[in-house]
Amino acid sequence: MQTVVVEEHGFNIKSDFQDFECPSPQQIERMMLRIHYGGHGSEETGPGAFRKERRKAVIKIFSIAGQPQGPKILGSVQLRRLQVHVSIAEHKMLYYFLFFIWFATAFLVHSFIKSCFKPQPPGIQSPPSPPALPFIGHLHLIGSVLPKSFQNLARRYGPLMQIRMGASTCVVVSNAAVAKEIFKTQDLNFSSRPEFGSSEYFIYRGSRFVMAQYDDYWRFMKKLCMTRLLAVPQLDHTVDIREQEIAKLVERVTQSCREGKPCDLSSELTTLTNNTVCRMAMSTRCSGSENEAEEIHELVKMCLELAGKLSVGDVLGPLMKVFDFSGNGKKLVSALQRFDRLVERIIEEHEAKVIDGGAGDQKTDLMDILLETYRDPTAEVKLTKKDIKSFLLDIFMAGTDTSSAAMQWAMGELMNNPQAFKTLREEINLVVGPDRLVKESDIPNLPYLRAVIKETLRLHPSAPLIIRECAEDCNVNGSIVKAKTRVLVNVYTIMRDPDSWTDPEEFIPERFLESSGERVGEHQMEFKGQNFRYLPFGSGRRGCPGASLAMLVMHPAIGALVQRFDWKGTDGEKIDLRQGSGFAAEMAKPLVCYPIPT
Ligand code: HEM
Repeated sequence: MQTVVVEEHGFNIKSDFQDFECPSPQQIERMMLRIHYGGHGSEETGPGAFRKERRKAVIKIFSIAGQPQGPKILGSVQLRRLQVHVSIAEHKMLYYFLFFIWFATAFLVHSFIKSCFKPQPPGIQSPPSPPALPFIGHLHLIGSVLPKSFQNLARRYGPLMQIRMGASTCVVVSNAAVAKEIFKTQDLNFSSRPEFGSSEYFIYRGSRFVMAQYDDYWRFMKKLCMTRLLAVPQLDHTVDIREQEIAKLVERVTQSCREGKPCDLSSELTTLTNNTVCRMAMSTRCSGSENEAEEIHELVKMCLELAGKLSVGDVLGPLMKVFDFSGNGKKLVSALQRFDRLVERIIEEHEAKVIDGGAGDQKTDLMDILLETYRDPTAEVKLTKKDIKSFLLDIFMAGTDTSSAAMQWAMGELMNNPQAFKTLREEINLVVGPDRLVKESDIPNLPYLRAVIKETLRLHPSAPLIIRECAEDCNVNGSIVKAKTRVLVNVYTIMRDPDSWTDPEEFIPERFLESSGERVGEHQMEFKGQNFRYLPFGSGRRGCPGASLAMLVMHPAIGALVQRFDWKGTDGEKIDLRQGSGFAAEMAKPLVCYPIPT
């Protein structure tokens, strides 16, 4: 029961009402009737009677007794027209909202005045930037496909521009010359990655590799990658895993043909890369069944999606972190905990194998190498089990969907370019013949296949925006870039720059052949990211350590799919090659098509 104080014609009247909170218009009307005529259900309390008696009355509810804030207008009833206006003043949220608006406005005005009057060093200014709106900054200029939006803006604001999306500011690099400054001339200064909204929720925070600062831990792990985990001997040692997985892919596609069903190549290629990385990283023999590989993929996918959503939430700044409105943070923690339990079990199985005296004829996987380093008392950095789990999560995140997306684009482009498809098929028939599948050892003899993969990665880089952070204030392209600034290198734009490429929007694998007049000639340099117009794997210290593995998976897989099947879109039309939204480089629609055995 609560007592409501109302005022009518200057008199205060008190009355009791059950469960009175924020009154709806109807509640206020009923309340008034009870105040004036008393009792429930009396005939006299009907609206007709009330209207008749009190047509011109205006009643204001002043306060709910017992509330400490003192009198305030809660609602008013204009009975003449029976319109009820309910003040929302009792909603505390309104105060918070008004406070936020006031605070944000004060902050913006302060920042604006500061930026107007702050002396800039002579001749050096911040990078050019489009006119911004309060709060949202440049969000109104950004479409759903981020790299494309930046590409459009760069045409106007140049190869180094500053963009603000809500609370998040970054500089965007859009040509080869400025990319060279970031990746080569000032590589050390741009060798860290920034923290994102999702970092808060990563239970492995502090030991992550992909998003690590440039420090001793990162250097140690990078060395381990290049000398052991992803080095040539370990890749050679696991060649049969990759060949078996490609054979299984061909088998699954053949099954679709037999059943006359369309084949979801997006899903099949993801299964290929996921099973391959899972087996190479921790052997399915240890993880029990392939369902565990599937479970890992589901968890990794979930983590990537949730991390993506939380990072988009970065535009809301600290507010997002405080409230985690959508609960995505909690979901991310829960997915990571499931991943942690799963990998913990696999670690125990690997340790048991060591106690039992080795794995017989089973191969050394990445987990074996990581556990060996963990036990090594002389290691420069003492690895923990948390580091091991975190590193494996990174490998799954960075290594599965990237290669799978690139292969989907390759197949889509080949289906839409029948001449390129025919040329590739002829090359494979000539070099490999019909009796066996393309193997890794065939790659050096298949220049057109290599050119197809390179051209695919040029048009559709799996990481179109490479993210770095500036360590110290520095001068880039004549502008000042402040310490802690996030830098996005838009390799999507750089690899479609008409100043660097002839017919940049066209799929022309021939440009990567030695004979090409375009002189993209120093191919090895291109691949290692030393020619700054071709950067699918990034460059410099933080360049992708999985590039060789990715190439070893992609060449034979695409080779086998072209060698064994003709392909047709489901509606007989060309394949839809539009790019999906956000940071990622996926196709807007999954690649579903009909395979026809040759
Ligand atoms: C087509 C496939 C792939 C593409 C296009 C790709 C691309 C990239 C790019 C652009 C970067 C950032 C480089 C930079 O900052 O300069 C990167 C980083 C990384 N990639 Fe890949 N990647 C692919 C496959 C793989 C695979 C198969 C693995 C491992 C199994 C892998 C592991 C990593 C790791 C660990 C990093 C972080 C390196 C660091 O921060 O130091 N990637 N990748």
